[in-house]
Amino acid sequence: MTQRDLIRRLPKAELHLHIEGSFEPELMMQLAARNRIDLRFRTLDEAKAAYNFSNLQEFLDLYYEGMQVLRTEEDFHDLTWAYLQRAAADNVRHVEMFFDPQAHTGRGVPFGVVTEGILAALKRGETELGLTSYLILSFLRHLPEEDGFALLKGSEGWHDKFVGVGLDSSEMGHPPLKFERLYKRCRDMGFKLCMHAGEEGPPQYVREALIDIGVDRIDHGNRSMEDPALIQVLKDTQVPLTNCPLSNLSLCVIRDLKDSPVKAQLEAGLMVTVNSDDPAYFGGYIGRNYEKIADALTLSDAQVVTLARNSFAASFLPEAAKAKHLAAVDAAAR
Ligand code: ADE
Ligand code: ZN
Repeated sequence: MTQRDLIRRLPKAELHLHIEGSFEPELMMQLAARNRIDLRFRTLDEAKAAYNFSNLQEFLDLYYEGMQVLRTEEDFHDLTWAYLQRAAADNVRHVEMFFDPQAHTGRGVPFGVVTEGILAALKRGETELGLTSYLILSFLRHLPEEDGFALLKGSEGWHDKFVGVGLDSSEMGHPPLKFERLYKRCRDMGFKLCMHAGEEGPPQYVREALIDIGVDRIDHGNRSMEDPALIQVLKDTQVPLTNCPLSNLSLCVIRDLKDSPVKAQLEAGLMVTVNSDDPAYFGGYIGRNYEKIADALTLSDAQVVTLARNSFAASFLPEAAKAKHLAAVDAAAR
């Protein structure tokens, strides 16, 4: 079996995926027409030409612009359903999906419209594709902590629909401790805690997320590798890192895929996983992320299998479901 075949066959979980980042320009143009909204881009080529970023903020500006055409429950359903079909084609069996409610409620789209549209597609994904899913409510870190508390209150009717919370958007200048009280509240409410940290931000941000806040998962975490003591904590605690290779390359977090920390993290015994982040913007869904990183770092087949195993081990699934998926990974690897 070639490594490509192995990657295709392996069941996978995707743990770092922003549903709004799976908005393909083709669908964006369809929804713009359906909702009679003018987009800055007239053609697909014009849109794709703009997908050229030199940092996180340049991407975020376009990401927030693109999602303006999402207005109705049907729009959020169609967006989510399109992602699930692509994920299933890559043999994703379980997804833990971020969404950014404040990016929608802030422009007048009610929380319920966003959430019910996504949930309808997730339900369909389970019945029609056998793909299970958890939803993660993400706070925008460039906004005040107070706004996060308001989102928590405004989403009260849906709390049982979320496995946890996340923190994304512009990292520099918005350290984890800005959200210390909000995260304490979320922990007390029983939510799992995720946070983007160390994508552009310094190792200190990962320390705050991991040690001061006590998150369950670090999203990205690249810059942890600059701090040997932090690497040791990550190894001892096995708090997962959700790495996103093609995202890192597109946003100039790394200059070349060969500079990705994934292999070093595997070799250091960290609980690292591979994910797509915003696949419509960064040139590939999860399968392509596995292929590209395996090629660039000359990962062994055993390391590729470890990445697939880690994806389930690092998920928020109950232990029995994890064991079932891990057995399926091992069977596919034989
Ligand atoms: N929102 C969507 N993708 C993101 C990323 N890679 N970093 C921070 N915020 C994001
Ligand atoms: Zn992300």
